Amino acid sequence: MMDTILKTIDLTKKYDNKTVVDNLNIEIKEGEVFGLLGPNGAGKSTTMNMICNLVKPDFGSVEFMGKDYAKNKKKLSRNLGYIPQNLAIHGSLKAWENVELFTSLYGIKGEQLKERIDESLEYVGLSERRNDYAKTFSGGMKRRLNIACAIGHHPKLLIFDEPTVGIDPQSRNFILEKIKESNKNGTTVIYTSHYMEEVEAICTRIAIMDNGKVIASGTSEQLKKLVTDDISEITLEEVFLTLTGKKLRDL
Ligand SMILES: Nc1ncnc2c1ncn2[C@@H]1O[C@H](COP(=O)(O)OP(=O)(O)OP(=O)(O)O)[C@@H](O)[C@H]1O
Ligand SMILES: [Mg+2]
Repeated sequence: MMDTILKTIDLTKKYDNKTVVDNLNIEIKEGEVFGLLGPNGAGKSTTMNMICNLVKPDFGSVEFMGKDYAKNKKKLSRNLGYIPQNLAIHGSLKAWENVELFTSLYGIKGEQLKERIDESLEYVGLSERRNDYAKTFSGGMKRRLNIACAIGHHPKLLIFDEPTVGIDPQSRNFILEKIKESNKNGTTVIYTSHYMEEVEAICTRIAIMDNGKVIASGTSEQLKKLVTDDISEITLEEVFLTLTGKKLRDL
């Protein structure tokens, strides 16, 4: 039996009277790589932002490590790492300074801080560019630095929101391998992506979200079985199209 690390309870958000996250109840078990798939506007980022307590829900709550996260953020935030879809890095700081800024927020300092900066830049393949200003980076490099900034404090749960957009295939594979490695070493992962093949490659469980609701969840195999008995005949992409009536890759 795996323990629950994170749970959303009736999580709800409205913007201008439109419900964008609708009474959402998801449960993430320790050790999972939980994938969230959904078309543009499904409410994925809003959900992640509420989970991380950056957007206040209109209703509902988030339980993290057995406690209400909003009420225990000070104590619990060191266990959470968030790679937001909108880049959080500072252009006027060098790569290593960006990682230092974010990592030191969690009270890590001195020799350990130096080690964590090196390790995080290595993780995303940016060691060679450590002394360059973030504003001089390409889009893909900025995205990789964005990841480095969220991992230096060794969180128990890592939340990735579209981490590989604009990253070349080689670096994407590199990052996917790193995420798998982190997971093997005990990190739980929530992963949002438009790349079906990525989600299928790394996620142990997948939820399909549309119009603020999870409409199906399970392993890739279980999701395929919802649509057909002969699962060798269908791709996850086709399952997604059947269940939502939308193409995921039409961006
Ligand atoms: N700050 C905001 N103010 C008003 N509306 C917002 C705000 N943030 C999100 N929305 C709306 O909420 C809905 C869900 O947006 P969200 O960013 O959560 O979707 P998403 O699933 O992450 O989409 P994408 O795949 O494009 O990243 C959209 O209709 C969006 O326009
Ligand atoms: Mg989003």
